[in-house]
Amino acid sequence: MKALIAVLPGDGIGPEVVAEAVRCLEAVGRRFGHAFRFEEAPVGAVAMDATGLPLPPATLALAKSAEAVLFGAIGTPRYSDPSLKVRPELAILQLRQELGLYANLRPVICYASVLDASPLKPELLAGVDIMVIRELTGGIYFGEKTRTETSASDLCVYTVPEVERIARLGARLARARRKRLTSVDKANVLETSRLWRSVVTRIMAAEFPDVALDHMYIDAATMHLLRRPSDFDVVITENMFGDILTDEASMLPGSLGLCPSASLGAETRGLYEPIHGSAPDIAGRGIANPYATILSAALLLRHSLGLEREALALEAAVVAALDAGVRTADLKPKGAPASTRSAGEAVLARL
Ligand code: IPM
Ligand code: MG
Repeated sequence: MKALIAVLPGDGIGPEVVAEAVRCLEAVGRRFGHAFRFEEAPVGAVAMDATGLPLPPATLALAKSAEAVLFGAIGTPRYSDPSLKVRPELAILQLRQELGLYANLRPVICYASVLDASPLKPELLAGVDIMVIRELTGGIYFGEKTRTETSASDLCVYTVPEVERIARLGARLARARRKRLTSVDKANVLETSRLWRSVVTRIMAAEFPDVALDHMYIDAATMHLLRRPSDFDVVITENMFGDILTDEASMLPGSLGLCPSASLGAETRGLYEPIHGSAPDIAGRGIANPYATILSAALLLRHSLGLEREALALEAAVVAALDAGVRTADLKPKGAPASTRSAGEAVLARL
C-alpha cells in the first residue's frame, strides 16, 4: 500500500524518539512491501521560534493531507510562563480539534520482562492489559474560558452525541476483549458527569447487553487502578479525567516511556504520539526511551492503515527487545542503559 505519513517531531526529546519510530516504519515498509512516504513539519516551540505560531498553517495542511500523523512531543521551559497568550501546547489541542480526533486510545500493558521497572509490586501487575479511552475534544479543555484581575473560569460542557460515540467505541473494543467496560465520572458532583453516566447506561443497555458495565467515580478509580489493576479491561472517561488517569496508569508498566497513544476520529486518519512529554531535562542527550513512540507507530499501522499483521510484528519486536534486556535509563536497567538509538536498533534487529 501507499501512504503519506506526516511527521511532527516537535520539542525536547520528540525528534530523537520520532527518528527511531520512522526507521521502524521504513523497515516495516521494506519487509511487507509498502511505500510509506514521510513528510516532516515543525510544531510546538520550534514552530513558534520559526513562525510565531505553535501550529503553522502549512503544518496543519500537511496533517490534513496525510493518512496519519506521527507526533513527538511539545513544550519547553522557554515558553512555560503562565502569562503567555500563545503556548506550544496549543498546537496539540488545535490538531485534535481541527482533525476531529475525539477519541484517545491509551493502552496500558505490563510487559512480563520489565515488571521490576514498576514502582508497584510485580504480583499486582502480571497480566495487566488495560485500554483507556479518553474523550479528547470536549469538556473543560475546550469550554469557554474567562479571566479577570480577580477571578477565572473554565467551562465544562458535554453533549449527548459526544458521549454516545465514546460509549460505542469503548463497548466495541470491550466486545473484542474481556467484555468489561468501566465508565469513569464524577456523577456525585458534576452535571456533565450525570449526563455522561445516563448516556453510557442507555447505550450499553440498548446496544451492548453482552458487555458488563460498571461506573466508577474518578477519585475511587485512581485508587482502584493501583490496588487491583488487573480488574480493569476497557475504561472510558472524559477529557481531563483521562489525562490524569493515564499518567497514573503509566506507572503500572513502569515508565511513561512504554505508553503509546492513538487519537482517532470518524475517519481512519489519526494522530499517534507517546503519552510522555518533551522531557527537556534529558533532551538532546540520546538517552530517551523510544519504545512508546515505536508502539505508537504500531497503532498507526493498525488504526489508520489497516495493517494489523504489520502492527503485530512491530509490537512483537518491541516485546522481544524488552525480553532481551534492552532497557533505556527510565526502565531501571541492570547494567549500562541503552541509548535511544541502540533501543531503536534492538527493535529493528528483531523485526
Ligand atoms: C497529553 C498532554 C496534553 C493534554 C497537554 C500537552 C496539552 O498532557 O496529551 O496528555 O493535556 O492533553
Ligand atoms: Mg497528559
